Amino acid sequence: MAAGLGAFVMFMPGRDDTADSELVYQARCAYCHDLDGTIGVKLDERVIRSYGSARRLFNYLRIAMPYDAPRTMTDSDIWLTTGYLLRSRGIVPPGTRVHEGTADEITFQPWSPGD
Ligand code: HEC
Repeated sequence: MAAGLGAFVMFMPGRDDTADSELVYQARCAYCHDLDGTIGVKLDERVIRSYGSARRLFNYLRIAMPYDAPRTMTDSDIWLTTGYLLRSRGIVPPGTRVHEGTADEITFQPWSPGD
């Protein structure tokens, strides 16, 4: 079911990235970051905000993640997980597309208790 949806979304022109970005995150990241007894650190809004921009987050992920197999993902899949983290933590609005062409405009402030 999930794989079928991924294939369907992939071939839709002008698609919203949201559905398949979540699929990539679930397949490549969630088993460390979102489970009880997690191996990876918790990726809450505060942690993600500390990167300051979409490009810095992308650069880190591209070099360091997945922790057990870095540099095994395409840039396009890394952009999808970058976007997924920014949207799902409420750092950018839900429809925001995060990719090579938009990344430099997407910057954000560090988390602060008043937010
Ligand atoms: C095998 C387990 C594992 C997988 C899979 C994995 N991570 Fe990680 N992740 C870690 C660990 C462990 C750290 C801490 C690394 C360190 O401190 O050097 C980490 C750190 C991070 C950080 C930095 C957090 C901080 O404090 O700045 C981010 C962001 C992140 N991971 C995102 C991802 C994303 C996105 C994916 C999928 C593409 C992913 N991770 C896949 C284990 C994993």
